[in-house]
Amino acid sequence: MLKLSIKEDAMAATTAPLSRTTPSPVPGGLPLPDLYAKVSRHIPAIEWPALAPDIEAILRLKRERNAVILAHNYQAPEIFHTVADIVGDSLALAREAVNVDADVIVLAGVHFMAETAKLLNPGKTVLIPDSRAGCSLADSITAADVRALRERYPGVPVVTYVNTSAAVKAESDLCCTSGNAVDVVRSLGVPRVLMIPDEFLAQNVQAECPEIEILTWAGHCEVHERFTPADIREVRESYPGVTVIAHPECPPEVVAESDFSGSTAMMLNYVVEKRPPQVVLVTECSMADNIAAQNLDIEFIKPCNMCPHMKRMSLRNIRHALETLTQEVTVDPSVAEGARRAVERMLAVRPR
Ligand code: 13P
Ligand code: SF4
Repeated sequence: MLKLSIKEDAMAATTAPLSRTTPSPVPGGLPLPDLYAKVSRHIPAIEWPALAPDIEAILRLKRERNAVILAHNYQAPEIFHTVADIVGDSLALAREAVNVDADVIVLAGVHFMAETAKLLNPGKTVLIPDSRAGCSLADSITAADVRALRERYPGVPVVTYVNTSAAVKAESDLCCTSGNAVDVVRSLGVPRVLMIPDEFLAQNVQAECPEIEILTWAGHCEVHERFTPADIREVRESYPGVTVIAHPECPPEVVAESDFSGSTAMMLNYVVEKRPPQVVLVTECSMADNIAAQNLDIEFIKPCNMCPHMKRMSLRNIRHALETLTQEVTVDPSVAEGARRAVERMLAVRPR
């Protein structure tokens, strides 16, 4: 593996315990009782009256503005389960963005996801409630870096993780997500591929595709890079028989210690299909919260880490975005066409 550089200005992520309280019956007199029932495991009844006015306003504004909310699986339960119209992993959000029939898209997630939605919907208004919601992977590489790589490795195709800016995508052959990275790399039918910027994702794909030489970059997700094999061993010791599911942005040694690895949507499918009694999702904390809300018989155990960028989204700023139609996401026309081509080529790859 080639290590080219690493950017070290990532914001520190925090570790938080998961709620493991059992849901209590919805107390009478609460506003929006049906919605509260969906999140009662994570939001105390006493806090709900403070959230309900924003939820009511968002539901009204969505109708008035002909807007939809696309929310990533890492959004907090009060967003994920009450106001979101479409939820999913990066791949699902990109796929669904193509089919959106609305004038306004609010992306509850991070900036690169909103940019992807805009690329696929150039005529629609795409809003992100807080434009500071970045990503350590997107920050790890620039378009100039990709041009330098191409000079150094002439003829080697560049597969770029969607967690990048439109300018970086525009310099790439095609994109991938954690849900289709193996299929995308194999679809090229070549012996050597540059896979940027997530070093760990590239190493995890390399383990599944030994027939292809994968060159990479030294970008990391600040949330997933913090998990260690010792974390997994500790949790296995404390909870014998626990099922461990790791996101492929984790270091390969962590993935090697896990029972399954996949994108956030693949994690959800695995849990829903296999129904392990105890599970640890080695990823962002809200992932387990969101699944737990609908799978009360499954116990979700630490460790998890919080993504400070995903957590910039709130009911309050989603409401504000819809009220004011800010903050609008635009893509520089000089890179839009190239970036759209890279995303569309990815969407055309069929799973094997
Ligand atoms: P998924 O595509 O698996 O949802 O992962 C994305 C991610 O890192 C979002 O931050
Ligand atoms: Fe980026 Fe990691 Fe946060 Fe996802 S979890 S947005 S990859 S920093």
